[in-house]
Amino acid sequence: MFPAFVKSGLQIYLYFCIYQHYFQLFIKYIADTSQFITYFRLMLGLKLTTDPRWANAAEKSLEEILIDHAYCEQKAATTGISLIVQYPEFEKMVKECTAIVAEEWGHFRKVLKELEKRGYKFGKQRKDNYVNELAKLITRGGDRNEQVAERLLLLAMIEARSCERFRVLSLHIADPELKQFYHDFMVSEAGHYRTFIDLAKEYMPESYVKRRWQQILDGEAEIMQRLTPVGSRIH
Ligand SMILES: [Fe+2]
Ligand SMILES: [Fe+2]
Repeated sequence: MFPAFVKSGLQIYLYFCIYQHYFQLFIKYIADTSQFITYFRLMLGLKLTTDPRWANAAEKSLEEILIDHAYCEQKAATTGISLIVQYPEFEKMVKECTAIVAEEWGHFRKVLKELEKRGYKFGKQRKDNYVNELAKLITRGGDRNEQVAERLLLLAMIEARSCERFRVLSLHIADPELKQFYHDFMVSEAGHYRTFIDLAKEYMPESYVKRRWQQILDGEAEIMQRLTPVGSRIH
């Protein structure tokens, strides 16, 4: 009925959907089970975890942290778009990042809606020291494959830390609606983290990606030690 190339395309798409579905179920399972905290940290590779007291501070600065969160989502969408336009020849990346950009923009809208629901006003963006410091960790130059892989690893790092922060909020914040709100973000950002790591491996050898990922994790831990977590900021 269908030509062979359509059939194999459909098969690949189906496998991709199944993989994404079970990966998200797995994230939900381990994140809902507090004794899996170490495993969760190891899965994301993070060297440092966030003190749960930060979630209590965040709850007290809800308007500010929601505004900051909205900008995190906006930046995730914007960065995805610039990756697509700067590296259009990487077809798989373009396809997968296009889907992620749509999701991030949906996240931005969701956070704006939450602000509105609570009678808060959207405000101005503040300097993002965490992301600015992280950006210094990626290597410049090299060929196009290396450049795109570095950019993808930077995005993976931001997703991993956001995912961990959303998990802390979902577990330690008192408001049940916000618990679910942050839980849903955590699951989604974990999926993005996985996609960016997998994409980096498409363009550079696995050994390169592993080595660079460990170096970026070490650098991130050092940045985390320098930046004191504040309740009004996601990072
Ligand atoms: Fe997001
Ligand atoms: Fe994301």
